[in-house]
Amino acid sequence: MAKERIITGIDVGSTKVSTIIVSVTETKSSVIGVSGNVESRGINKGNIVDIDDAVESISSSLERAERMAGVSVSSAFVTVNGSNIRTLNSHGVVAVSQQAGAEITQDDIARVTEAARAVTLPTNREIIHVIPRDFIVDGQEGIKDPVGMAGIRLEVETNIIHHSSTSIRNLVKCISQVGVEVEDLIYTGLASAESVLTNTEKELGSVLIDIGGGTTSIIAFTEGSPVYASTLPIGGKYITSDLAIGLRARLEDAEKIKLRLSSEHESFMTLNPKNKKDELNIAEFGLETESIPKNMLYRIVEPRLEEIFRLVQLDLHKAGLSTELPAGAIITGGAAATAGIERIAKNELRMPVRIGKPYGLTGLIDEIEGPAFAATVGAIIYGKNKMESMGGSFFDLPSSAKSGFLGQILTRIKKFLP
Ligand SMILES: Nc1ncnc2c1ncn2[C@@H]1O[C@H](COP(=O)(O)OP(=O)(O)OP(=O)(O)O)[C@@H](O)[C@H]1O
Ligand SMILES: [Mg+2]
Repeated sequence: MAKERIITGIDVGSTKVSTIIVSVTETKSSVIGVSGNVESRGINKGNIVDIDDAVESISSSLERAERMAGVSVSSAFVTVNGSNIRTLNSHGVVAVSQQAGAEITQDDIARVTEAARAVTLPTNREIIHVIPRDFIVDGQEGIKDPVGMAGIRLEVETNIIHHSSTSIRNLVKCISQVGVEVEDLIYTGLASAESVLTNTEKELGSVLIDIGGGTTSIIAFTEGSPVYASTLPIGGKYITSDLAIGLRARLEDAEKIKLRLSSEHESFMTLNPKNKKDELNIAEFGLETESIPKNMLYRIVEPRLEEIFRLVQLDLHKAGLSTELPAGAIITGGAAATAGIERIAKNELRMPVRIGKPYGLTGLIDEIEGPAFAATVGAIIYGKNKMESMGGSFFDLPSSAKSGFLGQILTRIKKFLP
């Protein structure tokens, strides 16, 4: 019988919880279960604010994907987000162990990465990622994979992403309450980058901007690796509430009007600001008017988009990165579909811009093709890469994730648990 592993990714977003279940065999990986759009409750700006509500949303999303896949999920890779995400770059150094004739081994890599992890952080902070950026062997820089090389002194430059311990504990608690173990946590921005950015963009220098409902997650890459990460507490929900206020409409109606405006986005390219015929039909929303000039709607939507990109620009400027990203900005997340976003992003960021959709999965992917699913798809890709890189055969790992699977990761995750 063909060996099979199940990998599950859960993105706990501020507007929706989404789950993807993938079957991985020796010849192919394929999506077998998805749940794209269970409304999030108990999650605000990326943080859990009500455990019971959040558990219910996560549980509905998981159950739907499980039913479609016909499997029972016992462990998952889960995204983590919130405006408390911070980043720093750290250096580690060790002497190469002499056991393998002074050849650098995986063990040396693990030790030097651990050395870089030894940074002083306040007690209420938890490290989510220590990502090696560059290795230095006996003073020679620019080495991506030093395993097998001769050397005595091994150094590493890393990017560390850390978060509030409380936010992490609450998220892990919610996931464990739905009966699932956290295999690993992944910063949302990093997850989205996994599914959206090309290697060339990462090498040249680029920034991924995931604009969700309540947050905008940023991650910048130079020379192939993350160098900076941050999350701003602003997103597509603000555009909806601006429209609701401007049109004196209910939030639900304002959201529908926003989506309709975006779906007619292409016509916007040829829109004549003076042409009254360029109007959006909003007859069914019971407002005072049956149609509204699109220009008027853009005048409400645009200032908010400008604000989002101005804040991103300021963030990148503070991090000293605004001139270090020649491959430009890649915008993803649900709000990346907002009408006019590309033009506004180009104006504000003053760099090349493209809208990024997730890629890298096959199978039942219709429901998860749009930019809103970048983080969920990325969680799967991250998880698969991580499991493959753990050494030994991927398929020799115990197939039941529930029974202490991936001991070393779980040991780490257990410390997150209250
Ligand atoms: N076609 C569209 N046009 C404009 N906005 C859209 C469109 N589709 C979704 N959105 C907006 O995208 C936002 C949701 O994006 P997404 O699903 O990425 O958020 P999330 O992951 O749940 O939230 P977060 O990442 O902030 O925690 C909502 O504000 C929604 O209105
Ligand atoms: Mg999101």
